[in-house]
Amino acid sequence: MGRTIGLIGLGLMGGAVARHLLEKGHRVIAWNRTPGKVEAIEGLERANTPSEVLARAGTAVLLISDDRALEELLDAEDGLLEAPEGSLVINSSTNTPAASLRAQRRLAEAGIGYVEAPVLGGPPVARKGELIGIIAGEEEAKKKALATIGEYTRKTVDAGVVPGAMVVKLAMNSLFFNTLIALGEAAQLVARWNAPLEALVEAGSSTWTRFLFEKYYDRMMADEHPVGFRLSMAAKDLAYFIEASREKNAPAPLTSGSLQAFLEAAREGLGGEDYSRAAWRLAKGPRR
Ligand SMILES: NC(=O)c1ccc[n+]([C@@H]2O[C@H](COP(=O)([O-])OP(=O)(O)OC[C@H]3O[C@@H](n4cnc5c(N)ncnc54)[C@H](OP(=O)(O)O)[C@@H]3O)[C@@H](O)[C@H]2O)c1
Repeated sequence: MGRTIGLIGLGLMGGAVARHLLEKGHRVIAWNRTPGKVEAIEGLERANTPSEVLARAGTAVLLISDDRALEELLDAEDGLLEAPEGSLVINSSTNTPAASLRAQRRLAEAGIGYVEAPVLGGPPVARKGELIGIIAGEEEAKKKALATIGEYTRKTVDAGVVPGAMVVKLAMNSLFFNTLIALGEAAQLVARWNAPLEALVEAGSSTWTRFLFEKYYDRMMADEHPVGFRLSMAAKDLAYFIEASREKNAPAPLTSGSLQAFLEAAREGLGGEDYSRAAWRLAKGPRR
């Protein structure tokens, strides 16, 4: 039998999760800052405020952009802090550890539970309910949250207490994006020397790096790619990684370099495009 699930944020990821949950027969009560995105998905029940989502569903999954969005959701009139005591917020967005800890503390003061559940995988994976969730929180809250998280993930990884899941998620995104930029730089060098790119692909596919080529090469080289994850959002995650590293006096030389590549791409107007464009502009840039 279908469950009642609350959803806040209907962007690329929230929209895909909403469609998946509806297809599975769940009742989904949703709120989005821009209300038209709720109406655009047939079958969603619209709540007028974030706190109404929690009042009607008991649990709300957040899929919002960044720390500012999280703070605004907490502070808004009829925001998350106005939700009924005993309700539960599951944060599947990617935030800094500091913002996530603050959210947990403030919600706890209002008697509201909080679980981190950031996800690995993009909108097509979300559409199929096959994301990987990384979860953190108090044991009781995690146990309660898992029934909902299990509806849009194929696997969950337990990262202990808040902000463990956000830390692991930022670490994973740094691995993904640093690797992508490394591939872009490698292709750039080969292209600038007019050496054959086919040889790079063949050599790269003949050793353990074949996974990188399988994952990123075609996506990076395609002159057009549908937006799965906005480049500006990837830059946000790299900046959050650096911010979280700085808090612990941990140097982040590689991620700092990757962030520059993403920021240069954004300055060239690619911020709203797919994040693979940060490597595409290296690999396919003018040959000098
Ligand atoms: N896309 C991916 O592949 C992917 C994968 C894993 C994790 N994530 C994470 O998932 C989250 C959502 O990503 P996305 O790709 O779905 O981004 P998106 O398409 O840009 O959607 C962002 C969502 O956040 C809402 N929002 C932004 N600022 C807000 C504010 N101040 N108050 C309330 N709502 C606000 C937007 O509302 P409006 O519609 O009104 O603008 C929209 O619903 C991010 O944290 C991202 O890092 C994304």
